[in-house]
Amino acid sequence: MRIALACDHGGFRLKEVIKSYLEELGIEYIDYGTFSEESVDYPDFAYKAAKGIVNGEADRGIFICGTGIGISIAANKVKGIRAALCYNVYAAEMSRHHNDANVLCLGGRVIGEELAKRIVKAWLETPFDGGRHERRIKKISEIEKNECGG
Ligand code: RB5
Repeated sequence: MRIALACDHGGFRLKEVIKSYLEELGIEYIDYGTFSEESVDYPDFAYKAAKGIVNGEADRGIFICGTGIGISIAANKVKGIRAALCYNVYAAEMSRHHNDANVLCLGGRVIGEELAKRIVKAWLETPFDGGRHERRIKKISEIEKNECGG
């Protein structure tokens, strides 16, 4: 599995922590930036990394801004992206079990490093349950088709 990483200045420090953690876990990643704490606009990085996922450069993504809110809203505008903002392990697990989330969003100014790592591990390891949830994911795709064309 290859992970697309994206952040803004508010998520930069936590992104660096998550990068080292992915290395520890032996998981490949592509870092779509940003690469410092200089102020930038989170939609630019959400868009680049989200396109990387839908184009097949990466399988899933971990996107981080100050709260995780802006970057998740931006990511969810890209067709095929199901981004879940998670502040705890339970939400991270459920975002995989029920929603087949392909992007995990974190708030770099909201959660600590150790919790973030636990969330990431749970999210990476939890499978999608399928079944009735498959039907609901298809309905989300239908909304995308009706609202965004194609
Ligand atoms: C940047 O100051 C901050 O607004 C951003 O990181 C994020 O929290 C937006 O949702």
